[in-house]
Amino acid sequence: MSAVQCRNGGSHGASPEKHRPVMCARVVEGLAVRPDGLYVDATYGRGGHACAILCRLTSGRLVVSDRDPEAVAHARAALGRDGRCTVWHARLSELPERLEAAGLAGKVDGLLADLGVSSPQLDDPARGFAFRGTGPLDMRMDPSAGEPAADLLHRLSVRELAALLRRFGEERSARRVAEAVAAAREAGTPVRTTGELAALVEEVLAWPEPGRHPATRTFQALRIAVNDELGELDAFLERAVDLLAPGGRLAVISFHSLEDRRVKRAIRNASRVGDLPPSVPVAPAGLRPRLKPLGRGERPTAQEVAENPRARSAVLRVAERLP
Ligand SMILES: C[S@@+](CC[C@H](N)C(=O)[O-])C[C@H]1O[C@@H](n2cnc3c(N)ncnc32)[C@H](O)[C@@H]1O
Repeated sequence: MSAVQCRNGGSHGASPEKHRPVMCARVVEGLAVRPDGLYVDATYGRGGHACAILCRLTSGRLVVSDRDPEAVAHARAALGRDGRCTVWHARLSELPERLEAAGLAGKVDGLLADLGVSSPQLDDPARGFAFRGTGPLDMRMDPSAGEPAADLLHRLSVRELAALLRRFGEERSARRVAEAVAAAREAGTPVRTTGELAALVEEVLAWPEPGRHPATRTFQALRIAVNDELGELDAFLERAVDLLAPGGRLAVISFHSLEDRRVKRAIRNASRVGDLPPSVPVAPAGLRPRLKPLGRGERPTAQEVAENPRARSAVLRVAERLP
């Protein structure tokens, strides 16, 4: 692991390596990182954003966490000896409790969630996320917990699988893919690898979308289901505002509309008060807006997408906790 020279002259081992942090400058700007603040990177990955935040801290503190044990091991190796940093193995949904237990809830100046999978997860065929290259059909971000994708495929009926592909992948040919999976199972050759699943979908979908591998939506749907990504995000968003100090910032990067819709809705709901009757001139405390959205969803520049095609579907939303 190579150490990175920070802008403030320090150096540490959190480095983007092959993984380029998406919209990194905008994230740091959106979080308005203060040298003495408390920051939480809830999705460490390979520490690209964490590194950029840490570089701006002097007496400040950084908590990083991830559900992937490999990411956590990377964080421990890179940041474990930096007294300003704390590393946790935690899911997004567990983070509020962890912060509460550490006495940090309500004190966070900047909270970042960069959703989805990291490049190291996607690029390692053994993790089972990618349809390029082949490996066991696993897709668990935390391989020590939950059900691998192959077992899920084995367990679901055609109806259930089609519904899952439609819901999480917006796959229009969900039924045909589900039937092909079931047919392979009944023929005694169940799909067990990423290569087999990619080949099966390629065979079934005669009219793939130009420029997109026909299995893209199927893989996305399975990944979201295996990791309960939307449930995780909902649980996180429900408590995120409580974690922030007044003036603290929340920044979330999402990569598909199912995520972004949730982030947008959560920010919008926390930013408004329902219509008050004229007899109630000032909203009671519990009804006051708790967040102020800062700008609209922001997308990476054409140049960033050219340099890092994985950024192409990213949307960054930032909001500030009101007093
Ligand atoms: C896009 S990468 C983050 C990259 C990181 N910002 C960087 O610059 O290196 C997403 C990371 O979030 C983690 N992750 C996704 N969903 C999670 C969840 N529900 N709880 C905790 N970590 C999660 C993944 O394991 C992955 O490491």
